[in-house]
Amino acid sequence: MSEFHEHHALREHWHAVATEHELLGGPVGRTVLGDSLVLYLDENGEAVAAEDRCPHREAPLSEGRIEDGRLVCPYHGWSFGAGGRCARIPSADPSLPLPRNGNLRTVHVTRRYGLVWVCLADVPGELPVIRQDVDPAFRRINSPVEHWQACALRMTDNFLDIAHFPWVHTGTFGNSQRTEVGRIELEMLDDGYFGYAYDVEAENPLGATLVSGQKTSTVLRRMTTGFKLPFAVRSTILYETGLEHIILLLSTPVDAVRSLFTFVVWRNDDFRVSAEEAIAFDRMIGAEDKRMLERIPGVLPLTSRALASTQSDKASTAWRLQFAKLLGLSQHYNED
Ligand code: FES
Ligand SMILES: [Fe+2]
Repeated sequence: MSEFHEHHALREHWHAVATEHELLGGPVGRTVLGDSLVLYLDENGEAVAAEDRCPHREAPLSEGRIEDGRLVCPYHGWSFGAGGRCARIPSADPSLPLPRNGNLRTVHVTRRYGLVWVCLADVPGELPVIRQDVDPAFRRINSPVEHWQACALRMTDNFLDIAHFPWVHTGTFGNSQRTEVGRIELEMLDDGYFGYAYDVEAENPLGATLVSGQKTSTVLRRMTTGFKLPFAVRSTILYETGLEHIILLLSTPVDAVRSLFTFVVWRNDDFRVSAEEAIAFDRMIGAEDKRMLERIPGVLPLTSRALASTQSDKASTAWRLQFAKLLGLSQHYNED
């Protein structure tokens, strides 16, 4: 069987590949589901995503530069504008027509939540919904796109798992006293995420007091965690003060065992904490997950028999089942 990231069903979904901010610095090269892409902003400020291969002699266009809103190939200087159309060939007589096969092979691209998303199929699916993005009480904070040497399946599984908190997040919020996880009841949460609600008594060390807005040594977080296929996980945190902190965690397979990771935060705070400070704690938490996951080689098995699970794995087990169905593997997935 081919690797999971080559499955056509994944090409029909949107995948977060870059921050909008990154594209302002010139072309960006990204590999998504094994395909090498170049992303750039054209002369109208619109994002273009295309195969990272010049139609002339196949040079990587992501190594090129942007001039007057056109992507210039580093090999012979052909340039490409809106929609990936070939705009100029420096070596050619300008009165002659440009070659018909000289345009870039583009893929669907869109911008939402400060991120650039691509879809590799003809008809794209739907983006995960974050209602608070248009609520003026909330601000949005982006974090850079990171490269993790980890399988996106393991990442999504991890983001749905709370049993690892006291073991992995010892440098941040993991409360080492509380290893037992209460009963998890899965339900359809708001805005199309499937998951569970739970309360956590979290450590509130110095780095966290800015984020929680409270100075006590521990804080109660009313949380929900849920997923939207294939790889979006949303965590919502409601503090007793009414402060809400919403995190969208996004994993994009580069290939079977390497991934892109980014997260976006929405907060209804009073803006006293800087954007950087407000997500610094989440970035430390992400780094703890990364350290753990990069130590686990290979692809997360999708059959339940291959892995032992317990009650606290209910959400990630449900995600694995739905993900396996998405890939048409349900006959291999024996839920017992
Ligand atoms: S390979 Fe790109 S211009 Fe020749
Ligand atoms: Fe974690």
